[in-house]
Amino acid sequence: MVWPTERDGRGTSTTTIRRVRASLIHKFGPPEVLVTEDVPDPAPGPGEVAIDVELANITFVETQVRAGKAPRADMLPKLPAILGNGVAGRVREVGPGGETTLLGKHVMTSLSGTGGYASRAIAAVDGLIEVPTELDLRRALALLADGRTAVLLMHQAAVQPGETVLVEAAAGGVGSLLVQLARNAGARVIGAAGGERKRAIVGDLGADLALDYTRPNWSDPVRGRVDVVFDGVGGHIGEAAFGLLREGGRFCAFGMSSGEFPRVTATTGISVLRGMRSTPAEIRDAAREALRLALQGRLDPLVGQTFALEEAARAHAAIESRTPVGKTLLVVSEPG
Ligand SMILES: NC(=O)c1ccc[n+]([C@@H]2O[C@H](COP(=O)([O-])OP(=O)(O)OC[C@H]3O[C@@H](n4cnc5c(N)ncnc54)[C@H](OP(=O)(O)O)[C@@H]3O)[C@@H](O)[C@H]2O)c1
Repeated sequence: MVWPTERDGRGTSTTTIRRVRASLIHKFGPPEVLVTEDVPDPAPGPGEVAIDVELANITFVETQVRAGKAPRADMLPKLPAILGNGVAGRVREVGPGGETTLLGKHVMTSLSGTGGYASRAIAAVDGLIEVPTELDLRRALALLADGRTAVLLMHQAAVQPGETVLVEAAAGGVGSLLVQLARNAGARVIGAAGGERKRAIVGDLGADLALDYTRPNWSDPVRGRVDVVFDGVGGHIGEAAFGLLREGGRFCAFGMSSGEFPRVTATTGISVLRGMRSTPAEIRDAAREALRLALQGRLDPLVGQTFALEEAARAHAAIESRTPVGKTLLVVSEPG
């Protein structure tokens, strides 16, 4: 990718510099550090395309990256940085020698960690996923990161029919999909979330039992009855959920939205699964599987709220306040 090299609009030397809109950070900090500015138009290199971004995905971890408190130090980008790793839009330009049949196609893709909150993004051709015309672009993008994560977690946990699965943050992006996938796998699903509004949503998603973990003793009814825990929250909620597992149980730890890792260790008969070692091809296949399930009507992504690109700071503040449900997207330009 060639960025932030400034180039002129006619492919010659200087004169008019093309610029695009982006929401970026110059320092780590609270949501207000996200500012919308004009930045130089990026140009695709060999094996790359430029995408006119219509929608940008926000994942929870991006709020932690923005704050400078990512789960791993190597997740923090060099500054200034345009946050955002997942986008959907139309291919506007192909890199030198690239396949021109891609031009104008509706695609979605992950970037290399940054560059998504922008009206133009550069992506590797290899990572492009063509969006089926039958699927609304918002719902498709809601499945890109969260869908593949949920699919890969289901593979990792090897959930069996008749098992009992507890999903934390079950009204959230990944959680709302795990509830549905675990149901599809024939499991009995307990969805746990914060507050009555989210508890009701978890019930609507098809959970057999919906629990509000902000209430005291929330876990008492299911103690010792859980085979698999999907822990994206960590901290004391993850630790409480760990305590619910029975012999043979699997604790799948994949995030720390509480800001703390859970202090849990494998014991005889209970395993702790951390991180997923997947190849880029497996990761893409998992996203495609999520799209396929959505097309078959077996997975229904919940797009809970959208914000304009200029409102990225508001979107991050909302996510930190725990009010959003399902997926949060930035609408950069109306999908067309
Ligand atoms: N999205 C992905 O593809 C992906 C990939 C790998 C790992 N993960 C991890 O998976 C987890 C879920 O990711 P997501 O993007 O789907 O987010 P999300 O679940 O939509 O949002 C995070 C949820 O965590 C809960 N939470 C608990 N304590 C919190 C706190 N102190 N502050 C804020 N939220 C708190 C909130 O739900 P309640 O109010 O119901 O508690 C909140 O809605 C994250 O830990 C993330 O890092 C996600």
